[in-house]
Amino acid sequence: MNYKIALIRGDGIGPEVVDEAVGVLNTVAEKFGHQVEYVDVLLGGCATDAVGKSYPDGTAERCKTCDAVLLGAVGGPKWGADKPAEQRPETALLALRKDLGLYANLRPASLRPAMTDACPLKKETADKGIDLMMVRELTGGIYFGKRNKYQTEDRGMEATDLMAYSEQEIERIGRRAFELARLRRGKVSSVDKANVLETSRLWRNVMHRLAAEYPDVQYEDVLVDNCAMQLVRDPGQFDVVVTENMFGDILSDEASMVTGSIGLLPSASIGDGAPGLYEPIHGSAPDIAGQDKANPIATILSVAMMFRYSFQRAAEADAIERAVDAVLAEGWRTPDIAKPGEKAVGTREMGRLIREKVNMI
Ligand code: NAI
Ligand code: MG
Repeated sequence: MNYKIALIRGDGIGPEVVDEAVGVLNTVAEKFGHQVEYVDVLLGGCATDAVGKSYPDGTAERCKTCDAVLLGAVGGPKWGADKPAEQRPETALLALRKDLGLYANLRPASLRPAMTDACPLKKETADKGIDLMMVRELTGGIYFGKRNKYQTEDRGMEATDLMAYSEQEIERIGRRAFELARLRRGKVSSVDKANVLETSRLWRNVMHRLAAEYPDVQYEDVLVDNCAMQLVRDPGQFDVVVTENMFGDILSDEASMVTGSIGLLPSASIGDGAPGLYEPIHGSAPDIAGQDKANPIATILSVAMMFRYSFQRAAEADAIERAVDAVLAEGWRTPDIAKPGEKAVGTREMGRLIREKVNMI
């Protein structure tokens, strides 16, 4: 196959981790006989420095000519809150997600087998394995509803945020969840607060309609407060967990913590059709930038997600994930995941070890 991939290296450790991920991507492509073409896209603080805007004109158009986007991280103290919005890196990332129509945020929380001792949960729970996918609706709900703030007669100021969802918005995220479940272990847990919220009752109705369309996928409703408990009690029970924007924001952070290091966790934002955006969940880590200390695994696993979910290429994704697990099983660690006294390797060496394993698999 031919793949055209937009590379947004970004700021801080972004370029360092993207370089290693591209190295692994090239190795996998060669092994499986794919041709890969890269398009460099400037975005974030580095774009502000180069052209005065964090989101240069034509950025989304450049990305849309590609099959997928790989992003390192953007941001840093140099382009802080005192800067005008068009120079701030966060503005650029939000604008890009919106312009690419990315409404589903996918965050796997999987405990790598060699890293079960990093799991803060009970040993029996970690040993059972954790491999779930949080699917968060990204463009609706209370974050985008009407806001208001006004003076009342007798109760001081009052503020409101409106939570709104349409059937159409629920259906498209729901469909993504069922389709993803088919590529995984075939189970969807839909999280809502249907005992209280009208939006949740509509959510549940739509999900039940979809569940009937996907009889091969096991389906359950879970109330959000119960889900928060289950994630720390027995996260191994979940496969795909789908939920609205705010619940997903909170639950995906909770889920990521049960697996240990943020340097290991990839993510994707997808819409209908290409391109999906793949990136590590961590930020630009300015404290360790340029020191060959960053863990490139989250970005490398983002490439595995790209193969699995944008290109429907499970074998390539498996090869990357197995290579990462093999390197970790041999005890190789970057400083963020090394235990005190354990010897650590740098960003580039970790990338090289993983490429070597991809070639051996
Ligand atoms: P951060 O994720 O960049 O760093 C938090 C801590 O984790 C730091 O101690 C850092 O050294 C460490 N860390 C992060 N990634 C690591 C890796 N791959 N290997 C080893 N250690 C790693 O979050 P922070 O400090 O809150 O934000 C720094 C900058 O990144 C800010 O400007 C923020 O806005 C931006 N950011 C960007 C994101 C993105 O591009 N999607 C997401 C989150 C933050
Ligand atoms: Mg969050």
